[in-house]
Amino acid sequence: MKIVVTGGLGYIGSHTAVCLLEGGYDVIIIDNLSNSSFSVLEGITKITGKSPEFCKVDLQEPWAVKDFFDKHKDIDGVIHFAASKAVGESVEKPLLYYQNNITSLIFLLQEMRRRALSNFIFSSSCTVYGQADELPITENAPVKEATSPYGNTKKIGENIISDFCESQKSFEAISLRYFNPIGAHPSGIIGELPIGTPRNLVPYITQTAIGFRDELTIFGNDYDTPDGTCIRDYIYVMDLAKAHVIALERLLQNQADQNYEVFNLGMGSGSSVLEIIKTFERVTNQKLPYHFGKRRAGDVTAAYAETSKANKVLGWKANCGLAEALESAWIWEQNMQKKE
Ligand code: WQD
Repeated sequence: MKIVVTGGLGYIGSHTAVCLLEGGYDVIIIDNLSNSSFSVLEGITKITGKSPEFCKVDLQEPWAVKDFFDKHKDIDGVIHFAASKAVGESVEKPLLYYQNNITSLIFLLQEMRRRALSNFIFSSSCTVYGQADELPITENAPVKEATSPYGNTKKIGENIISDFCESQKSFEAISLRYFNPIGAHPSGIIGELPIGTPRNLVPYITQTAIGFRDELTIFGNDYDTPDGTCIRDYIYVMDLAKAHVIALERLLQNQADQNYEVFNLGMGSGSSVLEIIKTFERVTNQKLPYHFGKRRAGDVTAAYAETSKANKVLGWKANCGLAEALESAWIWEQNMQKKE
C-alpha cells in the first residue's frame, strides 16, 4: 500500500511516517522544508532501516501538486500534515496562515478528485473548539469561532473536507483533532524541531533546561484554573502517530460508517503549565528557571479531550504518561545539542 504523507518531515508527520514504514506501508513524503529539515529523512531511515521516497513540493503551487500526482500512480491514501501550526504566530500573521493552510488543502483535494483517489486523513486541532463551554471536550462540542487564525484554518479545512465528502460519496476522510502533541521518538533520533524561537511550551522548556534559553516565560498566571496557569491535554507524539495509522486502516478496510468522521486525540486529562514544569523538573532532576509574563493572545484557559469515541470506534488509546513523554523530549533535546 502506497501512502503519501504531506508535511512528512515535520513533527507529527515524521513520527507517523516511522509508524507507517514499520507497518509495512510504502511511504512517499512531501514537504516544502519551510518548517522542517531534510536531516529528518535520514532520521526516519535510521530508525526504520527503510528509505521513503521524498519529494520537495510546495502544496501552495497547484502545478507542483498536479505534477506530483501525474508522476505518482496507485496512491492508496494521503495523510495531510503540511500546514503552519503555531497559535501565537497565526495571530501575528493571519494571511500567511490562510494562504498556506487553506489553498494547500484545496489543491490537494482537487488533484485527488481528478484521479478518483480516496482515504484522506486530515491533521486538525482542538483549537477548533476555541474555549469549549464544557470540559472534557467531546467531538460534539460546538466548533466555535476559533480564538486564533490557526484554529480558524483548521475549522475551515474541516468544513472543506466535510462538504467535499458530502458531494463525493466515494471519497472517504477522517479529521483528527489533536490536543497538545509533545515528546520525541524513543530512539531520540527524531523529535520536535522548532525553527527559531519555539512557540510551543515543551520545546521551550527543554531548550531552557539545556541552557540554550535563559528562562521560560509562563504566559499568564491569572487564569481561572487551580494554579492560575493554562491547562492543556499533552499527548505523546508516538501515541498520536499510531492513531493516524489506525485511522488510515479504518478507511483502507472500508470500516467507516460514514465517508467523513472526526475524532479527538488526547490523553483525556489536563495538566497546567506549572504541572508540566514540576513534572519536567522531577524527570530531569533539575530546576527550570521561569517567570510569569502577560497572557498570550489566542490562548484559551483550558482544553482537554473526551476520548471515548477514538477509544471505542478506533480501538485506540493514548498509553504514554506525561513523565515518559517529557523524558523523551529531554533526551531528544540533549541529542540535538550534541549534534551542534
Ligand atoms: C501551551 C501552553 C501557553 C509557550 C498547540 C499548538 C497547536 C495545536 C494545539 C496541534 C499555553 C503556554 C507556551 C511558552 C507558555 N496543536 N506557554 N510559555 O497554544 O495550546 O497550541 O497545541 O494542532 O498547533 O500550537 O500550545 O505549547 O504553544 O502552549 O506559558 O513559552 O503553554 O500559554 O497555555 P497551544 P503551546
